[in-house]
Amino acid sequence: MRRVVIGGSSSYVLAIKLARELNTPLLETDIKRFPDGEKYVRIDGDLEGVEAIVVQSMYLTPDEYLMEYFLMVEALKDSGAKKVIGMIPYFAYARQDKRFNPGEAVSLRTVSRLIETVGTDQLFTVDMHLHRVDDMSKIFNIPAKNLTAIPDIARYIGANLSLENPLIIGPDEEAEQWAKIAAAQLETDYDVLEKKRISSTQVEITTRELEVKNRDIVIIDDIISTGGTIAKTIEVLKKKDANRIVAACTHPILVDNALKKIYMAGAYNVIGTTTIPSPISVIEIAPSLAEALK
Ligand code: R5P
Repeated sequence: MRRVVIGGSSSYVLAIKLARELNTPLLETDIKRFPDGEKYVRIDGDLEGVEAIVVQSMYLTPDEYLMEYFLMVEALKDSGAKKVIGMIPYFAYARQDKRFNPGEAVSLRTVSRLIETVGTDQLFTVDMHLHRVDDMSKIFNIPAKNLTAIPDIARYIGANLSLENPLIIGPDEEAEQWAKIAAAQLETDYDVLEKKRISSTQVEITTRELEVKNRDIVIIDDIISTGGTIAKTIEVLKKKDANRIVAACTHPILVDNALKKIYMAGAYNVIGTTTIPSPISVIEIAPSLAEALK
């Protein structure tokens, strides 16, 4: 089957890099907004019988990027595409995966249904926020794979940051899965803190008995959004006389002055991957995405 790559407006640079890695043509798109606010999407090229890889991360304005994604996928299918693979490195709405309070939407369920309904045949995500669900088949009825960027992050740290005997820290229990992978790759140890979320912008990090004195630290998490989690974690570690502290994440969403907060708390460096373009997106994810598609 002839393969093509298509980039939505959230991820066109990543789409270009992915197409290069795969040695696959990248189709041009015309994506714009009508004066009344509606989105317009057109994909340029022969779509008959193709396998189309649609790259679209859903950060900062997820509703807009979701709508674009829906329009792209249905346009592809209507125009003769045989198979559509959704490459959604940052998958939004995953954190609202249950009804926490009466009457709330279970957003993850709604979004996943819509993604399937428009015609996605297969899906890839990267370090999707799977907190209470451990299996993609419990969320999606199509083949879906959650890739991880943690080995790429660990490789970058090992090659570029000259840390001495670093201790890997997960800011909460959920981050243990990532801390464990990074620690194994960097041949060091890891620990996990306890986090209580007070509100969407406030967290409390509970101190544990940690031997961090004079050690370099790498805090590893899936997402840096407001930066509250990382900033609080750094404060706790600094009080315990940690040495240099690097904060690393897969998805640097970075809202609400996150970087300022994290550096003010005492970070030595903050790094993330290109699942989301940002000032700290230094770890290129395209080769790993390509590998998964080969
Ligand atoms: C939540 O459990 C996630 O793994 C991240 O820790 C969280 O989304 C980070 O958010 P923020 O940067 O706003 O604290």
